Amino acid sequence: MAAAIRLSRLNLGLTSTNPSVACLIVRDGVVVGSAVTAPGGRPHAETQALAEAGAAARGATAYVTLEPCSHHGKTPPCSEALIAAGIARVVVSVTDPDERVAGRGLAMLRDAGIAVETGVLEEAGREALAAYLNRQTKKQPYVTLKLAVSADGMLGRLGEGQVAITGPVSRGQVHVLRAETDAILIGIGTALADDPELTCRLPGLEARSPVRIVLDPRLELPPASKLAQTAQTVPVIAVTERDRRDDPGFLARQAALEALGVEVLICDPRKLDALLTALATRGISSLLVEGGARTAQSFLDAGLVGRISLFTGPKAIGKDGVASPFVSGRMPDGFSLRHTARYGADVLQEYERDD
Ligand SMILES: NC(=O)c1ccc[n+]([C@@H]2O[C@H](COP(=O)([O-])OP(=O)(O)OC[C@H]3O[C@@H](n4cnc5c(N)ncnc54)[C@H](OP(=O)(O)O)[C@@H]3O)[C@@H](O)[C@H]2O)c1
Repeated sequence: MAAAIRLSRLNLGLTSTNPSVACLIVRDGVVVGSAVTAPGGRPHAETQALAEAGAAARGATAYVTLEPCSHHGKTPPCSEALIAAGIARVVVSVTDPDERVAGRGLAMLRDAGIAVETGVLEEAGREALAAYLNRQTKKQPYVTLKLAVSADGMLGRLGEGQVAITGPVSRGQVHVLRAETDAILIGIGTALADDPELTCRLPGLEARSPVRIVLDPRLELPPASKLAQTAQTVPVIAVTERDRRDDPGFLARQAALEALGVEVLICDPRKLDALLTALATRGISSLLVEGGARTAQSFLDAGLVGRISLFTGPKAIGKDGVASPFVSGRMPDGFSLRHTARYGADVLQEYERDD
């Protein structure tokens, strides 16, 4: 199951509204078929792994990270495919909260005489499926708040634009996070101060750059910014308060951004709860919030953060620093430390929300 969970991460951020699930078919201790949900969400992992296993699937064990589906959607149910292939035992990490499945997939397998075990490595399985599970149960994307802070908890230096706080290994890791995520979000303060591109620039993973979203109440994103200039290649959404007909320059700014391919979404950027619901209806299941300070604080205050990825660099910034919500290493209540890693001179601490 650990191997299946690792494999399932391969297509995170690529499977649209479907979860990225992995399936391993094991016969006499040998993996005879393995697959992960295909980009776009179809075909599912089970049918691909069964096809690879062929006749060797008869009498084998299938390890699946999420309960096999039981409903006739755009594809026939995976439970039926497992039964038809003669699988003897199915081991599942997480049961599916989708009301069309919710235990029915397991019941179908048991009714067919297949031995079924569930809840295997469930914590790790839930972590890999966090975005899907969150969207199913809360109808909102799963929010990861990523921040890089100096040794004294600062995000940057006032008026200095991007300040290198962490080293190249951490920055590479952030690009991996981007590759696994459906959308990245920042506040307009960061867009103006840093002019970031927010793409995934790891060799070979460039095509996995997520949609980029800017909370921009007054529609101030400059047409010359890297975000606007690259909107034709990687989508950019500027979330703005309302149709500001009283603001004479609004329509011209909107037209200039739209001509570059930026989508202007009229949805109050301060009502984050409603914004997240709107993003979920567009199929966005995971959202990486990359700051700045005020945006990070609003997401925390609204109780919308599921995971915090806190990268801490070795140097202090001191006075003139832009304070992060985590000065002096204090974590917000309701989060627990799950992982710690070292990337060169930096430390990553990953916190998960307790509920
Ligand atoms: N180290 C890091 O990880 C990191 C990451 C990103 C940025 N930064 C640094 O952070 C600094 C920028 O931080 P910041 O706090 O000034 O900017 P910010 O959070 O990026 O943006 C704040 C702006 O967004 C608007 N906004 C719209 N909806 C919002 C909402 N729901 N919550 C909060 N703001 C919302 C605010 O509008 P109003 O003005 O109307 O409130 C404000 O103009 C820069 O120095 C940048 O270099 C560091």
